Amino acid sequence: MVSKPHGGRLIRRIAAEKTRERILSEAEEFPKVQIREGVAIDLENIAHGVYSPLTGFLRSDEFQSVLDTMRLPSDLPWSIPIVLDISEKDKTFEEGDAILLYYKNTPIARMHVDEIYTYDKKEFAQKVFKTIDSAHPGVAKVYAMGEYLVGGEIELLNELPNPYERYTLRPVETRVLFKERGWETIVAFQTRNVPHLGHEYLQKSALAFVDGLFVNPVIGKKKKGDYKDDVILKAYETLFKHYYPRDAAVMAIVRYEMRYAGPREAIHHAIMRKNFGCTHFIVGRDHAGVGNYYGPYEAQEIFQAFPDLGITPMFFKEFFYCKRCKAIVNERICPHPMEDREYFSGTKIRKMIMEGKVPPEYFMRKEVYETIKGFENPFVED
Ligand code: ADX
Repeated sequence: MVSKPHGGRLIRRIAAEKTRERILSEAEEFPKVQIREGVAIDLENIAHGVYSPLTGFLRSDEFQSVLDTMRLPSDLPWSIPIVLDISEKDKTFEEGDAILLYYKNTPIARMHVDEIYTYDKKEFAQKVFKTIDSAHPGVAKVYAMGEYLVGGEIELLNELPNPYERYTLRPVETRVLFKERGWETIVAFQTRNVPHLGHEYLQKSALAFVDGLFVNPVIGKKKKGDYKDDVILKAYETLFKHYYPRDAAVMAIVRYEMRYAGPREAIHHAIMRKNFGCTHFIVGRDHAGVGNYYGPYEAQEIFQAFPDLGITPMFFKEFFYCKRCKAIVNERICPHPMEDREYFSGTKIRKMIMEGKVPPEYFMRKEVYETIKGFENPFVED
């Protein structure tokens, strides 16, 4: 049985055709707010149920509850605030108004403004990211936000332009797909990287215990030095073609901006995959981490506080290559000392790729390496 959506019901906030036409024909009468890509993507995720049970952007009581308890006021687990921020100059409307949200000059949603409120950015940063350091990419984004938050329900009017339509599946579609495949248990793998052998072993170790694997890369603005979206997708296509069982693994993207919030984000990632219908979720080493802000297994430990999450986490210790075992292993199954270990370092692999050096076969499949090399510049610049 695929997982029940978080909160019990898959949310769909998409305007009916008649309503949509009426709103769009009256567009000039609504106050207009331009939103940036990250907010538009969150909105799309609300509309398609990826963020079920949210039906809009958080109101202040919900926001505070998420910050303080990692739960909504209903007690349902929710760890990352999903908010719409505006600056003083955008505050051309009042509580109770209906407004139109625009992305790149296209109206993408109508919103009922329940509340406009202020918030403390340092508190936001400290509670969500466990730091107020502006060098943290997630914190830097919070500091760049407008000074007000707007809470209320949304209805999608137009889909965002999506260059990755071919790779996109919505929760309503994955739920059908999993059923058609006859999968009762499905493990999800979150990633923002091209696959190295560590990722592959992680996924396959998990797949050994369930019916299906759902590889779900996040597509959306990342930080400098991360792999470009196209590179990740092509690399996975190659890996699937050569090394994955066709009847037990699928890949589809989800558009989402990484927060790099480590443990809190691991819970959020798990909730999103529960909404896609997955029953299990892989959490490895330093999940959704950045720099040295989080302990290597903090993103696993946090799950203890959520026995009611409704999706089962699968924890793995760090995988590495052991020269004595001549295999990809981890400390639970390898008795050999540190000197025999080659760790999967994203930085090391990236450096090899940049310098045109072929990574050893135990780091990366040669087909995957060749796919990456086919791109002129595989990395995000600024
Ligand atoms: S993340 O930001 O999406 O977490 P990444 O795509 O590198 O980054 O990781 C995806 C998942 O693989 C995460 O659960 C992460 O903890 C796990 N992971 C990555 N590398 C390893 C490794 N060498 N050993 C164990 N788990 C790993």
